[in-house]
Amino acid sequence: MIQKNAELAIIAKGLAKTYDKDIEALKSLDLEMRKGEVFTILGPNGAGKTTFLRILCTQLMPSKGDATILGDSVVNDPVKVRENIAMVPQDAMAYSNYSPWDYAYTFCLLRGMDKQKAKRKAEEAIRSMLMWEMKDRPAQTMSGGEKRRGLIAATIASDAPVMMLDEPTSGLDAIGRRNVWSVLRNKAAGGDTIVLTTHMMDEAEMVSDRLAIINKGELITVGTTAEIKKKVPFKYRVIAPEDAVDQSSYSDVTKIGDRLVVYLENHEEAIQLVSKMLKKGVNAEASPVTLEDAFVHLVGGDIYEIGEKPDSKQGANR
Ligand SMILES: Nc1ncnc2c1ncn2[C@@H]1O[C@H](COP(=O)(O)OP(=O)(O)OP(=O)(O)O)[C@@H](O)[C@H]1O
Ligand SMILES: [Mg+2]
Repeated sequence: MIQKNAELAIIAKGLAKTYDKDIEALKSLDLEMRKGEVFTILGPNGAGKTTFLRILCTQLMPSKGDATILGDSVVNDPVKVRENIAMVPQDAMAYSNYSPWDYAYTFCLLRGMDKQKAKRKAEEAIRSMLMWEMKDRPAQTMSGGEKRRGLIAATIASDAPVMMLDEPTSGLDAIGRRNVWSVLRNKAAGGDTIVLTTHMMDEAEMVSDRLAIINKGELITVGTTAEIKKKVPFKYRVIAPEDAVDQSSYSDVTKIGDRLVVYLENHEEAIQLVSKMLKKGVNAEASPVTLEDAFVHLVGGDIYEIGEKPDSKQGANR
C-alpha cells in the first residue's frame, strides 16, 4: 500500500514488468513526480519508458509493485486513475476520417463534459496547438506532424490534471516543438502534472523541471538538469580532429568518426587544449558539457566502439 502524499502526483514503488516470461522491461522502479511539474523520462531505446507510461495510464498491469496517480492505485483503482489522466501514446494514429475538431470535441464529451464546455475546451486546445485553420481537415489529408499536433490538442483539451506524452514532439518541426513546450509549461504552471519521454536532449533541458534517466528497466538518476550534469566527473568538452590530440593525456575521450570529444574537469584545461589546437593550426571548440554528454556518460554508451571503422588508421583522419 503506497502512502498518500499531497505534494506528489505520481508515486511508483517497486514497479516491475516482465514480458513473455523473460524480457524484464522494468525492474523494481521507484519514482516520484510532484504536482505541477514537467517531469521527463530519458533512456535509450528499449529502456522501459513506454512500458512505464503504459502502466501509469492503466493500459498494462505491472508484474510486481504498484503506482498511484493522485492517490489512486493503478492496480486496484484503474477506473479512478483514468478520470485524472490523459495520454498521447508513442505510436498513436489518428483515425483517418477524424479532424482535429472531431478528436478534441469527442474526447471532451467522452470525459463527461457538457457540450458547451467540450466546445470551449476543444477550441482552446486546438488554438493553442496553432491548428484552428485546419480544425475541420480529416487526418488523412494532413501531414505527419500536423496529425501529431492534432492528437496532442485532443489530450490537452481533456483538462486532465495528469498528462502523459510519449515522445510527443517526434516528427514536429522546430516551431511546432517550441509551441508544444510552451503549452506544456503553461499547463504545469496552472498546477497540472506533465510526464513526457523524449530522445531530444535540448527538449528535455528546455521543458523539464526534473528528469529521470532509466536504462534496462532501472533508475540511473533523477534530478534537475543542473543536478544531473553535476553527476558526471567533467564540466567542459572540447571537440577536435582525432589526429591533432594526444589521447593518452586525457582520461575521458569519445571518438565520433574522425573527431574526438575530450571531456575536461575545468575551464583552464579546456582553454589549454583549445590553445594547443590553435597553435597547430586546427580548429577546436570548447563548451560546457550538455545534458546529452551526461546522458551518454551515465548510461555507459560506448560511441567509440560503435563509431570505430575497421580501417580507421588509414581512412578516418584528414
Ligand atoms: N509487448 C511486448 N512484448 C515483449 N517485449 C516487449 C513488449 N513491449 C516492449 N517490449 C520490450 O521491453 C523493453 C522495453 O520496451 P519499451 O517500449 O518500454 O522501451 P522504450 O524505453 O519506450 O524504448 P523506445 O525509446 O525505443 O521507445 C524492450 O526490450 C522491448 O523490446
Ligand atoms: Mg518508447
